[in-house]
Amino acid sequence: MTPSTPPRILLGITGGIAAYKSPDLVRRLRDRGAEVQVVMTGAAERFVTRQTFQAVSGRPVRTELWDEAAEAAMGHIELARWAGRVVIAPASADFIARLAAGLADDLLATICLATEAPILLAPAMNRVMWANAATRANIGTLTGRGMRLLGPDDGNQACGDTGAGRMVEPDRMAEAILAGIAGAGLLEGVRMLITAGPTREPIDPVRFISNRSSGKMGFALAAAAVESGAKVRLVAGPVGLPTPAAVERIDVESAEQMLDAVHRHIGQTDIFVAAAAVADYRPASAARDKIKKTAPEMALKLTRAPDILTQVAALANGPFTVGFAAETRDVEKNARAKLEQKQLDMIAANRVGAGSGFDSDQNALTVYWSGGEQELPKTGKRELARALVQIIARRYVTARETAGSR
Ligand code: PMT
Repeated sequence: MTPSTPPRILLGITGGIAAYKSPDLVRRLRDRGAEVQVVMTGAAERFVTRQTFQAVSGRPVRTELWDEAAEAAMGHIELARWAGRVVIAPASADFIARLAAGLADDLLATICLATEAPILLAPAMNRVMWANAATRANIGTLTGRGMRLLGPDDGNQACGDTGAGRMVEPDRMAEAILAGIAGAGLLEGVRMLITAGPTREPIDPVRFISNRSSGKMGFALAAAAVESGAKVRLVAGPVGLPTPAAVERIDVESAEQMLDAVHRHIGQTDIFVAAAAVADYRPASAARDKIKKTAPEMALKLTRAPDILTQVAALANGPFTVGFAAETRDVEKNARAKLEQKQLDMIAANRVGAGSGFDSDQNALTVYWSGGEQELPKTGKRELARALVQIIARRYVTARETAGSR
């Protein structure tokens, strides 16, 4: 596409309440100079009329595979070729399943099979449907075939639930589509290993030392990295979060187990991100039996837990290494000290405590690297993760280019 050619977006609308936001998406894409051809499924027409999309797109809306007049003007193959990008927004659970099965039973599904353009899915559905194993498997299949995800976001849903499954807001979506599919491709094929969540260090068979990490930050990073094309392994401490689509998850409990899992996979890793809140100290020994309440006082002897991040950063020919710093004060000073002492490529610092960082849906980060920094203001962890992944991708590419030119 030459710079003077407007981007051509084929926008597929499938059946879901979030379709009411799609006319706004058309408007915002056109405001940014794109040509938009809308294709609706039969189910989509139950939510918004084709006249609405016709008015905002300035083009006849296509709905039927068997419409002779429309096929004579621009057939489904021509539409598939015309598109610079195919965006399905909203992408319903049903449409995602049909795409995963490779069906060509309506115009939109047929175009998706027939196009060579990148396909971007903006899922929108109830949070339980999004978490369902069938949907996760279908998303895994589609992202494995190179389709990209935009969202979904967390938040209040039309059905009254709260959770993951909201369609990304039109303004942000339009920007992401035209800016190269939300950073998609930035990390194409790059292998990423991420740690997330807390660890549990056993005191006896029923007690442990742990912390307030929920895993949300690390899981959001895993999802954002997949959106950017990375192949993601997630080593997760004990958390109750669903596995992000297309992510390989390895569950562990203790720092020792997390270290083990990291060591097993670090040889096949290009970027390592340590978002887990790993114990610094663990009981020197765990009692075999439940400790009885006999003595009036009890002292627990602690010993240092392995520092996973330091070990990875010290590897010869190790991956690009990104740490986190959780600080209650002197954030920059402490984060920069960790960056230097642990010999990291980057560190993402967050102020924690008093309802921020740990176990909340929002966070703010300042990212530091040698000779630079970037502030990421407070927002939802999913959005924050996308911004952080973009910074990681840029720094990773720069580091590789620098290494290559030596
Ligand atoms: O999980 P959430 O509820 O979403 O909260 C997110 C978070 C606050 C846990 C996350 O944003 C965060 O800051 N994670 C790192 C927490 C932490 O342990 O920070 P630290 O400053 O103590 O450790 C520095 C770095 O060393 C971290 O990258 C940590 O993963 C790593 N580390 C620490 C100790 C250890 N034994 N091994 C490690 O690898």
